[in-house]
Amino acid sequence: MAGDNVLAGQVAMVTGAGSGIGEAIATALAGAGARVAVADINLEAAQRVASRLPGAVGVHCDVTKKASAIAAVAEVERTLGPLEILCNNAGVSTMQRIENLTEDEWDFNFNVNAKGVFLVTQAAIPGMLARERGCIVNTASMAGKIGVPLLAHYAASKWACIGFTKSCAREFGPHNIRVNCVCPGYVRTSMQTRELEWEASLRGMTIDEVQAEYISQTPLGRLETPEDVAKVVLWLCTPGAAFVTGAAIDVTGGADL
Ligand SMILES: NC(=O)c1ccc[n+]([C@@H]2O[C@H](COP(=O)([O-])OP(=O)(O)OC[C@H]3O[C@@H](n4cnc5c(N)ncnc54)[C@H](O)[C@@H]3O)[C@@H](O)[C@H]2O)c1
Repeated sequence: MAGDNVLAGQVAMVTGAGSGIGEAIATALAGAGARVAVADINLEAAQRVASRLPGAVGVHCDVTKKASAIAAVAEVERTLGPLEILCNNAGVSTMQRIENLTEDEWDFNFNVNAKGVFLVTQAAIPGMLARERGCIVNTASMAGKIGVPLLAHYAASKWACIGFTKSCAREFGPHNIRVNCVCPGYVRTSMQTRELEWEASLRGMTIDEVQAEYISQTPLGRLETPEDVAKVVLWLCTPGAAFVTGAAIDVTGGADL
């Protein structure tokens, strides 16, 4: 496991860090000594998280907009210094049967979960290439490896995220830049609260019944916490993972087996 201050002096940017898994990642990286840019489309949430982390700053970033991604990376490098660690974590989901799925829903999921990862990576990579040093960790999903009813559009966007991650690992590996992703399962966040409501309504079940199904599908027998994911992301950013790139690591408690 990562020791204290293993990331001392390094600058990290985490998108979608105003809540949930991103907040836990920002907290873990700051706990290991990194100076963290807490980036989110919700600046107030980003600033709230940053205010309780030593050396952190809150930054506005809408990952779906190229200009916003470029401005956010520039702001991070101006205020904290050269960016070494980028966690593309911002993500959204909606639930719908394919026959009722709208183009808007498809685009919303793809714009944040796939295009957003590309845009922020593209904004950060020139500096990393120039310095021949960098580590990128994307938050994909177990839905990026298996088919998931009601989440076909979300799953497709996360398969795209994994494909992009592996391609980046091949392009940037020769420049000493590692690119990996984590694939969480059923994580207790506001995203899950929304999904429980949608799924219960679409399947004619109660929220408790849907939640019990999530747990029964998980061999380790409980819902996942944001910290379960953050610990693996932190490890991927440390020297312990120095020879790991292009990996899509399951952090699911076995829910995807
Ligand atoms: N919760 C789960 O069960 C689960 C499972 C697998 C993967 N994931 C993935 O984990 C990541 C984090 O999800 P979460 O569960 O913490 O959700 P969450 O809704 O709690 O947090 C998502 C954060 O992303 C921010 N965000 C949304 N759109 C944005 C944009 N365009 N630009 C910048 N920030 C934006 C939101 O403001 C929010 O703070 C997502 O990529 C999600 O797909 C979640």
